[in-house]
Amino acid sequence: MSHETILILDFGSQVTQLIARRVREANVYCEIVSCATPLAAIAARKPKGIILSGGPASVYAPGAPQVDPGLYRLGVPVLGICYGMQATSHACGGQVVRADQREFGRTELRVLGNDPLFADLPPRQVVWMSHGDRIESLPGSTTIATSDNCPLAAVRAPALNFHGVQFHPEVAHTQHGAAIVRNFLYRVCGCRGDWQMGDFIREEIERLRAQVGDGHVILGLSGGVDSSVAAVLLHRAIGKQLTCIFVNNGVLRQGEADGVRELFAEHIGINLDYVDASDRFLTKLAGAEDPEKKRKIIGAEFVAVFKDEALRIKREHGGHVRFLAQGTLYPDVIESVSVHGGPASVIKSHHNVGGLPADLGLGLVEPFRFLFKDEVRAIGSQLGLPDAVVWRQPFPGPGLAVRILGEVTAAKVKLLQAADAIVREEIDRAGLTRAIWQAFAVLLPVKSVGVMGDERTYENACAVRAVTSTDGMTADWAQLSYELLGRISNRIINEVRGINRVVYDITSKPPGTIEWE
Ligand code: XMP
Repeated sequence: MSHETILILDFGSQVTQLIARRVREANVYCEIVSCATPLAAIAARKPKGIILSGGPASVYAPGAPQVDPGLYRLGVPVLGICYGMQATSHACGGQVVRADQREFGRTELRVLGNDPLFADLPPRQVVWMSHGDRIESLPGSTTIATSDNCPLAAVRAPALNFHGVQFHPEVAHTQHGAAIVRNFLYRVCGCRGDWQMGDFIREEIERLRAQVGDGHVILGLSGGVDSSVAAVLLHRAIGKQLTCIFVNNGVLRQGEADGVRELFAEHIGINLDYVDASDRFLTKLAGAEDPEKKRKIIGAEFVAVFKDEALRIKREHGGHVRFLAQGTLYPDVIESVSVHGGPASVIKSHHNVGGLPADLGLGLVEPFRFLFKDEVRAIGSQLGLPDAVVWRQPFPGPGLAVRILGEVTAAKVKLLQAADAIVREEIDRAGLTRAIWQAFAVLLPVKSVGVMGDERTYENACAVRAVTSTDGMTADWAQLSYELLGRISNRIINEVRGINRVVYDITSKPPGTIEWE
């Protein structure tokens, strides 16, 4: 079944993905395409509406991306946001000027008249502006909202089927942004809202069955959200034609390997190939102190183990093993627009299981290629996965190896696992698991003197790291209460033999990184 589709033409804004999020939240399917997509390809998709994103360029700059004026003759409503509005004005005989004052931040918008874009919204509302240029005129348009620095803060040009807004409805700082996007979808484009996760699950199961046929699929299960939900969805679709490979690399968190086996193999009944390669990894890691070297060892070893297993399963199932499934997400496959070099686009590498060998000769199955993380979480919940999996915090591929500073040994892994389990347990108990991006312990290559009872101790120090973030790109250290920090510290020192000092990391990113290595 094909869904009503909104196409978002990306002019290189940092927040284009947020537009897509707002549209999907309003139950309308959308895709982000490069602003250089030919008109014929856009028309062929039969979109219900088109949104032109913002972008960092000035429309007059050499090589700045432009809009084909034919876009406004497709008979499809167009919404231009910021640069998208300026590019429209430039393409349709209007004027774009450099604003006397760069406008950045919260601004009061005054709505004029009763355009459907602002239906049921207050006449004065706070919006988020971020622009140096603004439009001075657009032939055939009426102004539907204004602000102090921006007389044409929102316009409508009926002959062009166009609405334009100088502010950014997609960002959270715009008070009624989500409602404005909704109004565009439902009142201007006439969408009905046929994008629901329940429908997606049903349709994707059909699609997966058709793609896989009687073939067998291998999936690398890490225990993270994406691969876990992919495993359960594929299991619904093809049952025993799926085999998941779970590699214990010896640097997992406490209880992780058992948890995955219990849930997926015993409870859900998925074919699970559990490979305990701890010794193999730890032997290879012996003597390695440099973080990058440790990462490379683990990456290469993972590929080697996975390949061995995949080939073994291939032999076991004869010629039937034909696919490798991955939980690749939409943000990994969206073409990124290079703004200053014109509308050339670069396709990001989308093989998130870094460097899995092409010579396995398997086709790819990527059920979430067009989904965002929170959509995958919603699917996981609908498929009955527990919150602990659906809301699991990110955990790096190289695992505890990048949280044990210096050389990794089995004894250090055990020590860190115990301390880390306490941190996570206390964060969970305090109800902070979802509010905090990541919380964990780091084993430092430092020993210090302490006193326990009447005895002097000389043991390891560990750092506790907890950060808030929305995407892991930037992060703030979490302002955990003293009480919670005290509990974590007391428990680690009392319960983990070998650690006698706990410190709290109060470094944000930047300048720090989330992991210590
Ligand atoms: P940093 O430490 O760079 O981490 O601020 C940002 C996010 O990425 C995770 N991370 C990794 N994930 N392999 C991964 O799969 C890695 O080598 C790796 N290094 C960091 C980190 O946990 C955080 O969420």
